Amino acid sequence: MTGTYVHGYRPRENERLHDQAGTLVDLLHSDTAYPAGSTVLEAGCGVGAQTVTLARRSPQARFTSVDISADSIAEAARRIDRAGLANVEFGQADILALPYDAESFDHVFVCFVLEHLARPADALAILTGLLRPGGTITVIEGDHGSTYFHPHDPDAHAAIRCQIELQARAGGDALVGRQLYPLMAAADLDGVQVGPRMVYVDSSRPELVDGFTRKTFTAMIEGVRDPAIAAGLIEPPRFDAGVRALHRTTEEDGVFCYTFFKGVGEKRGT
Ligand SMILES: C[S@@+](CC[C@H](N)C(=O)[O-])C[C@H]1O[C@@H](n2cnc3c(N)ncnc32)[C@H](O)[C@@H]1O
Repeated sequence: MTGTYVHGYRPRENERLHDQAGTLVDLLHSDTAYPAGSTVLEAGCGVGAQTVTLARRSPQARFTSVDISADSIAEAARRIDRAGLANVEFGQADILALPYDAESFDHVFVCFVLEHLARPADALAILTGLLRPGGTITVIEGDHGSTYFHPHDPDAHAAIRCQIELQARAGGDALVGRQLYPLMAAADLDGVQVGPRMVYVDSSRPELVDGFTRKTFTAMIEGVRDPAIAAGLIEPPRFDAGVRALHRTTEEDGVFCYTFFKGVGEKRGT
């Protein structure tokens, strides 16, 4: 990770990651399960928002979840304890310098991490190297350019562009979702399949209005207000109008759309 991790590690950001994970469990995880006895490396587990779901859905698999942030690991470990799960061990490590032998995992899982890395292709090459032949890697990423909504509002798009720009300046890429296929196809993987996972939200789905539009996406944009203004990317009134417009999409006649991308590939060489 270069520069500053754009979302930060504040408690409110940790809650946001959990709201995101809770709301999106079926959309993102319904087709992810690991066999009994298999070993799974979760790279960039953060505060464990996906870890709880993974470990619960595959109770007989053994997870090793790592992150570069010691504080996040500690929080993730607390959450796994509270969930009564015993099939996860944690470690602090940089994805680009992982302390594991080649071909030592059956599966790798990566969610919302490549978007923060300056060298996502290198990270995928390293992670693929840790897979045994025939093992799988699953990667889930968002793409902020996939955001559209009703009522349409140029200020809201300007506020979103601030997030994309700040993430780029921190060395990441908030538009990485659309690049998942070429990134994975360039790794030592066979049968790479990437599919869009679209979140469609209208007021007939109040749990998504609250959990996704309000507490996940809009909260993320609100979180970059100060750095965006400090960087001179936008004037405060325009940013605030953009955030109001995002909240406006949560009203009775509002609609919000966002697309995640999920890719799976198999390590060559069986
Ligand atoms: C947006 S969070 C996603 C966390 C979790 N996967 C989830 O879906 O909730 C990105 C995480 O990647 C971690 N990260 C960023 N760069 C990393 C690196 N080089 N090595 C390990 N972890 C990294 C950050 O510390 C952060 O916890």
